[in-house]
Amino acid sequence: MLHHAASFFFMNRNEFLKKLGFKGAALMALYCSGGCEHHLPPVYDIDFTIDLTNSEYASLKIKGGFVVVNYVVIVYTTDGKFAAATVYCSHQYLPGIEYDYSRNIYSCSEHGAEFDLSGKGLNDRGKNGLKIYQTSLKGNTLRVYG
Ligand code: FES
Repeated sequence: MLHHAASFFFMNRNEFLKKLGFKGAALMALYCSGGCEHHLPPVYDIDFTIDLTNSEYASLKIKGGFVVVNYVVIVYTTDGKFAAATVYCSHQYLPGIEYDYSRNIYSCSEHGAEFDLSGKGLNDRGKNGLKIYQTSLKGNTLRVYG
């Protein structure tokens, strides 16, 4: 009995809630009970490369496709260029940013913020803009940085 009490005492909150059966959305809802804004810090300074021959990135061979790598949305735009932005939306810092190929913009699946490819907000929820990264292509290696 003492052993159980001690292990609960040393568990962090995440482990404790998971042990109680909370996970996924339910776990997030508990974390958000005091207000969700800023609960995940945006990741800003990055510099990494991906190998476009890797099947994980097959979506980037199709115009309009995108993948999320290291919290960055990497897009092969409908006009055949690479683009990249943080996955964290500036509305409430939720990781909801996707590429909307039908409009060639970024949109957030959480509450509908919209941004153009330069990161400029296109509606009220997008008014704080979106962090954009640079891309450069050398052979099959795409560098994402900024
Ligand atoms: S987090 Fe609210 S619109 Fe993206």
